[in-house]
Formats: sequence, structure tokens, C-alpha cells
Amino acid sequence: MKERIGNLLDDVNAFNASNIEQLEAFRIKYLSKKGVITALFSDFKNVPTEQRKEIGQLINGLKITVQEKIVSLKKGFENTNESKDKPDLTLPSDSPLGARHPLSIVRNNIIDIFARIGFTVSEGPEIEDDFHNFSALNFPLDHPARDMQDTFFIEKDPDIALRTHTSSVQVRVMENTDPPIRTISPGRVFRNEAISARAHCIFHQVEGLYIDTDVSFVDLKQTLYYFAKELFGEETKTRFRPSYFPFTEPSAEMDISCNICGGKGCNICKYTGWVEILGCGMVDPNVLDSCKINSKEYTGFAFGMGIERITMLKYQISDLRLFFENDVRFLEQFKSSI
Ligand code: PHE
Repeated sequence: MKERIGNLLDDVNAFNASNIEQLEAFRIKYLSKKGVITALFSDFKNVPTEQRKEIGQLINGLKITVQEKIVSLKKGFENTNESKDKPDLTLPSDSPLGARHPLSIVRNNIIDIFARIGFTVSEGPEIEDDFHNFSALNFPLDHPARDMQDTFFIEKDPDIALRTHTSSVQVRVMENTDPPIRTISPGRVFRNEAISARAHCIFHQVEGLYIDTDVSFVDLKQTLYYFAKELFGEETKTRFRPSYFPFTEPSAEMDISCNICGGKGCNICKYTGWVEILGCGMVDPNVLDSCKINSKEYTGFAFGMGIERITMLKYQISDLRLFFENDVRFLEQFKSSI
């Protein structure tokens, strides 16, 4: 046994590694669970009592020599280029913390608020056919929104276009789901508009749809009142003004009391105390029928809002173009908002 340990000690002292892999193999050979040192310790059981002290010290000495060898060879490698090229993953990072885009923050807020009252999220394609973007939604053939002015057409006859609203997603949901339906569809939409501080040709919407038996305008008002208070604060007031959309009857626009001046009047609310945030209404029976839902049995309400507009109000941002420029000085300001 003594001789065996002596030979091993010679091997260890003579060992040299030219790279980290060889050193690791050396460590495994000697120090791993199935390695040489463990084997020596298990043979140690058979050593006669009078030799135990001496042999025990020799094995421990061998183990320490191996450990010291590994440490000193490792140090040598640290000074070579091989390890300098590799990043030290234990160092603290000096790259700046990222921030979520304000539009994503507000979109997630809106999704959370509606999720709490049972609305699911549905998504659909950005390139749509005429049926899902217009016809199923009761747009008369000569409606101005079908005009080239507003819509980016990709193909004509049959018409294929970039969707102008996410109502198209709700048509798809109605086609494929039996009521009750409670869903919101967030997504990117496209309209052929001149880019300015208040408008862009690409923007984001969240539209909502609720269909069941006996859904009334009261349900619509209460749902949207809850939403406005959750998003803009408990003291927020709402009001509804009659409006027109081809796919809802009656239709309305909802204003909230100006969250900047508290309704007293400022340049954001143009001194009226109110700002418009969304369009809404009771789903037109023609829309239900187009989507194979029995309009005699079911009623529903729908609403739609622009995320840019809501975000501008919530964070008092005066130019919509800031959302698309990705200037870090702008984006960094949203770090603490999740
Ligand atoms: N689709 C409408 C738009 O894009 C919004 C809306 C949705 C209005 C649902 C009423 C009901 O402007």
C-alpha cells in the first residue's frame, strides 16, 4: 500500500496540464467519488491497526498534494489568453436595466383589469379579408372606411387588406365560439393616415366583446365604468355621448373626467373637463347573424379603444410619435412602472 501511494505521489508531482480540460480530467481521476483517493480510503479498511496511522497520513498527504496541484495549475491558466477571452460570469453587470415599452405596460394593465371580470384574450391575423374586417361588421358597400383613404389594401377582388381595427378578431371568435363570449382583442392596426402628434398609420387597439342572453346597455355602462375607475383612479367619472358605428346599435363614445385637471379644465381636455377614450355600443343583430349567432336569443355589447391615446392620457405624453421612435431617454422613464 505504501509503495502504491508513493508511486501515485510521483505521478501527481510529475503531472502537468496544457489546458483546462486536461486539468479537469486530472481532478476527476483523483478526487471524484469513483476516483483514486476514494479507492485508497476504501482499501484503508483492510490495513492492519499498527500501520493505520502512517498509511492514513500518507493518503491525506496525497490528497492535499493533488488539491494544491490543481490550484497552482489553475492559477497558471488564469494568466493565459485562453481564460482571458472567456467572460467572467460571476462579475456584476454594468449594462443598464431595461424598461418595458409604455404601450406594453398599458396594454397589460388593460388586459389585467378585464381578466379580473372574466374576459379572455383573443388574437388574430393582421392581414384580413373583406368579410372579417368589413362585411361581417355590417359596413355598407359604399362606407367611406372601405375607401383607399383609410385602408391599406394588399389585393383587390377579392379584397385583402391590413386590418383597420381588431373587431376583425371578434368576428373570428363569434364564428368559432358558442355564447356566452367574454373576450378582449389587443393588437396592431393600420390606417392610411398622415403621421402627426395625434395620429399614426400604425397603432394599437384593445377591443372587447360580451355576448350572452339578456345583455343590456346597463351591463355595457357598468363594465366600462369599472374599467375607467380601475385604470384612471377611483374618483374618475364617465359619460356617454351618442355616436355611430356600423356594427353597433345604439352606439356611443365614452368620455372620462379629465385625469390631468380633475375636470376643472386644462389644455388636454380643451377646457371641457372631459376626454374621449373609447367607442362602444350594443352589437348590431346583423353582425350576430353574419357570424351565425342567433340574434333572437343573444345580445351583446362591444367596445374599442386606442392604446396610444390611453397611454398619452395616463402618462401625460403630448406627442404620439414618441412611441415609435424608441429614444432611450423617453423609454427609460418607464423603468419603475413594471
Ligand atoms: N372598431 C371601432 C374602431 O376601430 C371601435 C369600436 C369597437 C366601436 C366596438 C364600437 C364598438 O374605431
